[in-house]
Amino acid sequence: MRVFDTHCHYDDERFDEDREEAYQRMLDAQVARCVCVGSDLPSSQRCMDFAAAHEGAFAAVGVHPHEAKDAPEDYLDTISEMLKAPKVVALGEIGLDYYYDLSPRDVQKRVMAEQVALAVRLDVPVIFHIRDAHGDMVDFFRAQKKLPQGIIHCFSGSPEIAREYVRMGFYISFAGPLTFKKAPHLQAAAQEVPMDRLLVETDSPYLSPEPKRGRRNEPAHVVYTLAKLAELRGLPVEEMAQITWENACRLYRI
Ligand code: NI
Repeated sequence: MRVFDTHCHYDDERFDEDREEAYQRMLDAQVARCVCVGSDLPSSQRCMDFAAAHEGAFAAVGVHPHEAKDAPEDYLDTISEMLKAPKVVALGEIGLDYYYDLSPRDVQKRVMAEQVALAVRLDVPVIFHIRDAHGDMVDFFRAQKKLPQGIIHCFSGSPEIAREYVRMGFYISFAGPLTFKKAPHLQAAAQEVPMDRLLVETDSPYLSPEPKRGRRNEPAHVVYTLAKLAELRGLPVEEMAQITWENACRLYRI
């Protein structure tokens, strides 16, 4: 079995004590690949460094909506340069977060739109973070002449909104909350997404799945979310691992 954690944050300081051990535990859990996702320019650089030093790790670079307000004037030039590095496989994570609203919404929208335009121009896949902002995000997508390929990461919406993103060509990635007892809408969405658009991720160190809930998350734990997804789709875990592995490799073009 080979499992792909499509979204983690090994660069996070919560891995400072045991980053190498956590990577080894990931490999031991048959999670052979992961994408380490940046949230601003310094963290994107750390993700690139991690990917360069670890065979199974790849990187994504971008400016998260939380950090949009602090993006330097020339951030798009920096991201364009970073995207040329061999193990950088996506632009992200970018998007809209109206739950925390850590950057003003007009700034979030501008920085997201600028990065989407860059991704379309360079033809690279995008990792989208969307929290309490599906309405504005769908409106934005509908207004575009051309959409990038991409992932709706840590999907948190209804089956209807999942269908809408799938129609637009996006992949839907499920994280730890899929395993929670009180997640009927999310589990319903996971049962409806076409097989060739399903992905799993940890978003570690955040969002630990059951039975690890309440502790720091790490990429090895993606197997619990994978097992839940397999159960919901009525497939053996090994088969779901292979399906989500192939989907991730196709999307990230690895
Ligand atoms: Ni993330």
